[in-house]
Amino acid sequence: MKLYLDTANVQEIREVHALGVLAGVTTNPSLVAKALGEAGERFDSEAAFYARFTEIVREIAELVQAPVSAEALATDPEGMIAEGRKLAALNEHVVVKLPISEAGLRACRVLADEGVAVNMTLVFSANQALLAARAGARYVSPFLGRVDDIGWDGVELVRSIREIFDVHDLGTEIIAASVRHPQHVTAAALAGADIATVPYKVLKAMIKHPLTEIGIQRFLADWEKAKQEL
Ligand code: E4P
Repeated sequence: MKLYLDTANVQEIREVHALGVLAGVTTNPSLVAKALGEAGERFDSEAAFYARFTEIVREIAELVQAPVSAEALATDPEGMIAEGRKLAALNEHVVVKLPISEAGLRACRVLADEGVAVNMTLVFSANQALLAARAGARYVSPFLGRVDDIGWDGVELVRSIREIFDVHDLGTEIIAASVRHPQHVTAAALAGADIATVPYKVLKAMIKHPLTEIGIQRFLADWEKAKQEL
């Protein structure tokens, strides 16, 4: 399973990219708004805000040189198609994120036929994933955490989609999204997700284990002791 970072914070992406584990990035409007808010950036018009959004998407794509999902904000198919074309033109690595809906499916089919990679997002059922795949989506994003939040089983959703895609030979990649903790990552990998998109905090937590910390300290202490006895 490949690992993506689920953020629009360029600093976080730069740091994780340096670890050599990053295969892509996903953003969404909430994450972009959060990153710009945290950076204290203010805008005097929606056009200026949108221009900054596209600038960030391009910057991330140039940095990671791997798929970067950027969400179209239009809600009608024509708007989604026009916006999708513009986003895709920003950089060869840009993947257009569209919500699963009638408008999203129609736009997905048109963009996919033009060779634009689409990540169909906000997927909460296996049928939605099947529709996305049939509309030509390159990626489908089931939201594990949000499914768990309503008392259903997000990992089970990933497992069902995996089985359907395998049985019916569908090449759409499954991105386990809305990942909330390291256990979600392990479970998504075991359930057959192709990719997990992981928040910065979760990725950092995946690195750590108390026994690793203790082990490092013990090795260093033993080495120091041996040096004293030379
Ligand atoms: C996926 O592409 C989304 O950006 C993300 O995983 C949503 O996660 P959330 O449910 O934590 O907002």
